[in-house]
Amino acid sequence: MTQQQQPRIGIVIGSTREGRFGEKPTHWIHEIAKQRTDLAFELIDLRDHPLPFFNEPRSPAYGPVNNEAAQLWAGKLATLDGLIIVTPEYNHGPSAVLKNALDYAYKEFNHKPIGFVGYGGVGAARAIEQLRLIAIELQMAPVAHAVHVGMMESLGIMQQGKTFEDFPHLAQAAKRLLDEISWWARVLKLAREGMTTGVAA
Ligand SMILES: Cc1cc2nc3c(=O)[nH]c(=O)nc-3n(C[C@H](O)[C@H](O)[C@H](O)COP(=O)(O)O)c2cc1C
Repeated sequence: MTQQQQPRIGIVIGSTREGRFGEKPTHWIHEIAKQRTDLAFELIDLRDHPLPFFNEPRSPAYGPVNNEAAQLWAGKLATLDGLIIVTPEYNHGPSAVLKNALDYAYKEFNHKPIGFVGYGGVGAARAIEQLRLIAIELQMAPVAHAVHVGMMESLGIMQQGKTFEDFPHLAQAAKRLLDEISWWARVLKLAREGMTTGVAA
């Protein structure tokens, strides 16, 4: 598959706070992902997209955003064929900074797959369930498989000097997630391109 044909997947770090743990699972999944030849990957750090709290006159579903940082964010999303979000869980939901970033675009998300790597007490399972519902509203295709870096693994890595490689089930889950993202990204890319060329209605 040529570089041009490879669907391009953004791996988004869903936490921007100082001292965030999120960098570790993000770099881990990126390293695994980069070994694949069916997809191309790009790390996207929300720190590079300092969006104000949503303050637009209308939803991005009804027209382009005014804020310059938000236009850059939407422009970045438009170059992608899918997303993997690496998410913490804050009070059983996604971080505010991540939800804000999701609110700031619309059509740039449409008809693309999205998958999740979560970390925390229950591998951010509760936050991921909420994110899947949000993704549906953005007309995305949330995939069923996810990586959940749970309490034992998170604490082992944070406090006991362990690494992701000490928990081989995580790499197995990552493969399932990436395989599924690959299938959906290729199918939906073809469908979107078919729509612009008039092949598919
Ligand atoms: C405001 C806040 C709320 C939190 N709520 C939860 C929670 O509901 N479930 C959980 O497993 N961990 C929770 N935690 C702990 C996080 O899992 C832990 O701090 C993790 O490192 C956050 O990710 P980050 O360091 O990448 O920002 C919370 C942390 C913060 C700061």
